Formats: sequence, C-alpha cells, structure tokens
Amino acid sequence: MKLVFLGPPGAGKGTIAAIAKDKYGIPHISTGDLFRAAIKNETALGLKVKEILASGDLVPDSVTIEMVRERLACDDCRKGFILDGFPRTVPQADALAQMTGLDAVVNFQLSRAEVVRRLSGRRMCKSTGRIYHLVYNPPKVDGIDDETGEPLYQRPDDQEDAILNRLSVYEKSTEPLIQYYREKGLLSDIDASSSPSDVFEGMDKVLKNRIH
Ligand code: AP5
Repeated sequence: MKLVFLGPPGAGKGTIAAIAKDKYGIPHISTGDLFRAAIKNETALGLKVKEILASGDLVPDSVTIEMVRERLACDDCRKGFILDGFPRTVPQADALAQMTGLDAVVNFQLSRAEVVRRLSGRRMCKSTGRIYHLVYNPPKVDGIDDETGEPLYQRPDDQEDAILNRLSVYEKSTEPLIQYYREKGLLSDIDASSSPSDVFEGMDKVLKNRIH
C-alpha cells in the first residue's frame, strides 16, 4: 500500500503512522524525523536545516525531494510506504508523481484550536521518536520515555511562535495539495479529532473500501 498522510502540523499523522506501519507491514517515512535525525547526528544536511526546522519554515524543495528519492529507493519500500509530511508543496507532489504511483492520500482534519493544544503539549523521545502528550498520552513516569528511560524533550518548533508560523506555512504551501489530490481522485478526508485508535479504525475502513 502506497500512502501519503496529509494534514496540518499536530493533526496526529505521526501517531497514526506508528499504528498503521505495524498493521500494514510497511515503513513509516517521516521527512520531519529524517531531518531531526540528521540534526541529532550533526551531518552536513543537519547543519543546513537546523535553523529552518526550529523556525517552522520549509526546507527547500530540491533538498527534500532528493532525500525522499533516496529513501524510496530502499528495499523496504517495495511493498509500499507511508509518507508522512511529504509532499508539502506542489513541486514536491509533482516530483513524487515522477517517482511512484500512490494508492491513497489521507487528509487528517482537525480544528486550529485542537492543533495548538496538541502541539504545545507534545513531548518526544529523541532516540526513538516516540510521541507523547502531557494530557492525552502521558508517559508512565513524568518526563521519562516508557521504554528507554531517557528524558523526554519538547521540539523547538513546538514553541508558540514556531507553531503559528508552521500553521501559516501549512495554509499557504501545503493546503493547496488537498485540491491537487482531490482532483486526481486520491484523497480521503478523515476526522482526526477522536482517539488515536478510533482515528486509525476510521481510516482503515475508508482505505479498505478505496483499495479493494
Ligand atoms: P514534521 O515533523 O513533519 O512536522 P509536522 O507536519 O508539523 O507534523 P507534526 O510532527 O508536528 O505533527 P503530526 O501530525 O505528526 O502529529 P503527532 O502525531 O506528533 O516537520 C517538521 C519540520 O521539518 C517542518 O516544519 C519543516 O521545517 C521540515 N519538513 C518536514 N517535511 C518537509 C517537507 N516535505 N518539505 C519541507 N520541509 C519539511 O501528534 C501531535 C500531538 O498530538 C502529540 O503529542 C500526540 O501525542 C497528540 N495526538 C496525536 N493524535 C492524537 C489523538 N487522536 N488524540 C489525542 N492526542 C493526539
């Protein structure tokens, strides 16, 4: 199954992808996670994109497209993939269409107020990328990852200024992709406001009807 997850920052794309990758047996490819790994490892790419991510702006298309092209060429993508956070611009979507076909594009819908609530309460484990929320999905021990025991951190782009910038970047650059994929007959709208397991079940039903 070849899927793209679309939706505003904080809609729950990463959370649902973490469930779906095991259920569907396909890799979860998050461009945000790939950039954050490069920053953590202080690679040339990481140094280049560090400030861009912290501000909430987009990494240039050329850099992002090449990174995804390399990742999709890996063996584990033969059976399919979940692309989370890519494409985010029309040129990225055009480039993706040259690389591969898609089975569906899932558009996670969530109100702006809930997006801000989810992002400002998010905490993450740096080494595993596991996602928590202070209220909706707290760790067993305050501030500590359940499995690795490492301290959790708040993403720099989950500060208020960066959240507001990410929302306006989303509206300007990424929202046009909703119409882009609707016109291609690939888009499925999913209400992302319920619990992660309910959001996954709702999406799974829609995908089964669409793909089989
Ligand atoms: P990226 O990491 O992709 O950030 P994003 O799209 O802003 O998405 P998020 O990771 O913030 O949110 P999400 O929808 O995955 O929500 P999550 O599941 O974590 O990108 C970061 C940056 O990298 C970009 O700003 C840009 O600079 C760069 N970048 C990445 N891709 C790029 C591209 N293609 N082109 C150019 N630049 C690019 O959930 C959020 C919170 O809500 C969590 O706390 C979670 O526990 C909670 N939650 C989730 N679901 C639920 C639920 N159903 N109920 C209750 N709580 C929930």
